[in-house]
Amino acid sequence: MSYKLLDGKDLAARMKKTMSKEVEKLAAEAIVPGLAVVIAGNDPASRIYVNMKKKDCEEVGIKSFEYALPEETSEEELLGLIDALNQDSAIDGILVQLPLPEHLDEAKVIRRISPDKDVDAFHPFNVGELMIGRPIFAPCTPAGVMELLKDANIDVAGKNCVIAGRSNIVGKPMAMLMLHDNATVTICHSQTRDLKAVCKEADILISAIGRADFITDDYVKEGAIIIDVGINRNAEGKVTGDVDFPKVSKKAFAITPVPGGVGPMTRAMLLKNTIKACNMHNKK
Ligand code: GUN
Repeated sequence: MSYKLLDGKDLAARMKKTMSKEVEKLAAEAIVPGLAVVIAGNDPASRIYVNMKKKDCEEVGIKSFEYALPEETSEEELLGLIDALNQDSAIDGILVQLPLPEHLDEAKVIRRISPDKDVDAFHPFNVGELMIGRPIFAPCTPAGVMELLKDANIDVAGKNCVIAGRSNIVGKPMAMLMLHDNATVTICHSQTRDLKAVCKEADILISAIGRADFITDDYVKEGAIIIDVGINRNAEGKVTGDVDFPKVSKKAFAITPVPGGVGPMTRAMLLKNTIKACNMHNKK
């Protein structure tokens, strides 16, 4: 069976074009959306992600402000910076790249971000709004997945959607967005009995496990839609998803690649949230 490739790189590029035009219109009124990107410590993956996010901002005309803090930054210093960014009218969105160094309390730091600048949608206020179906900011990765499905004319209503992974960043908010669009949602995880059988029931399978090539063809129903949120490195050091693409693509109706699937969509949604925050701050 030939499969449809869900090309996140292409959709993100199209979205960025549209967003550039929106930003241009704002610029005509001397309004420039601003995103503060806070990175603490020396995690190499975080550095790569932050650089990509800054480059994306530049592409669409959002001004990014980087705050690179040393590994040994105290909680007080970081919270002080967030307080200052909350007050700064040039800043519409605040992104604190996770994970933070171990001595810093992530939950406390996230709670300090003003909810109207919380473009990652990690603050409990925004998590709560998502739960009751009226989010100001949609969490970037799950919202990016929904855009990718919508762009491919895939309606989740009534479908059996199985999400492997229960993180606060992906699994749980993914379930909420799909539920709001009338999917029948199952979240499974490392303690799920017979994970393979549960995944095999999926019309749409979302994998956010974080293990290279974990989802093989025997986890997948013929004709299923496969969304791979994983970003892993395999034994050869190559970036791969959670899904064994060569095998699974033979059974899938549609499938995302890694790289070039969900990753670019996450970043596009961050830009979208930043523009939304800017519009809100300027009462647009
Ligand atoms: N670390 C891994 N994913 C993310 C994300 O989407 N946002 C932030 N801030 N940190 C992350």
